[in-house]
Amino acid sequence: MIAVDRDSPIGVFDSGLGGLTVAHAIMRQLPAESLVYFGDTARVPYGPKSPETVRRYSTEIGFYLIEQGVKAIVVACNTATAHALPQLRDELPVPVIGVVDPGARAAVKASRNGRIGVIATQGTVKSGAYVRAIEAASPSARVTALACPLFVPLVEEGWTEHEAARLVAREYLAPFAHHEVDTLVLGCTHYPLLKPLIREVVGPDVRLIDSAEETAADTRRMLMEHDLMAGPTASAAYRFIASDDPQQFLTLGKRFFGDAIEHVDVRTFG
Ligand code: DGL
Repeated sequence: MIAVDRDSPIGVFDSGLGGLTVAHAIMRQLPAESLVYFGDTARVPYGPKSPETVRRYSTEIGFYLIEQGVKAIVVACNTATAHALPQLRDELPVPVIGVVDPGARAAVKASRNGRIGVIATQGTVKSGAYVRAIEAASPSARVTALACPLFVPLVEEGWTEHEAARLVAREYLAPFAHHEVDTLVLGCTHYPLLKPLIREVVGPDVRLIDSAEETAADTRRMLMEHDLMAGPTASAAYRFIASDDPQQFLTLGKRFFGDAIEHVDVRTFG
């Protein structure tokens, strides 16, 4: 570990804009903390890419955030967490957390019948990361994990209430009724924006687990454990960096984060 200032920012990264849901939850739960958010908009989506490629992208971004002086890193992307978290923890000189464990623990806590559903990208589902994390927290849990790849472009298009999204959601989510799941993990950065629609399709009795809120709570625990909470005189600042068109980040980013995004820097990778 390197010596860092407690008032330094937390680095948060995602394959694109979706991780702003996690950054936003951190902003609300930890209002004194500064953030540097990196969205790899030039290389999104990570969901269908190989584990090796996602690991390479994630370590590049991790070291870039270290250069920006961050005191800790939150991997806000489920796919990057699923493929790269152990490597990032080994290689980066600051504490690193991801979004899978917080979501898995919250699901175990919420479930009454131990039947838990997970929806995520193909990469996250194939990695088995959620199934492992849920079974580690509750060995008797029965987990059904399904990829919902069309949800990401629907959200990016802003079609969160659209009839097309409703049809896709009905198709993807139908198997969960058969498995009698009482808890569903939204295991992808974009899915919290589809919460009302998913709620409508699965019905009011299924608990929806939003890993953004859980990860923000875990961020607090990580900072306290490492004595890294911002001091009482700290004033929060937010910086946003994208690897592609800043204007598009600015426009779409407001959908995830609200008006706190005023300016976007650009940093490209090879
Ligand atoms: N950020 C990704 C995740 O949470 C979703 C978008 C992508 O496929 O890159 O898994």
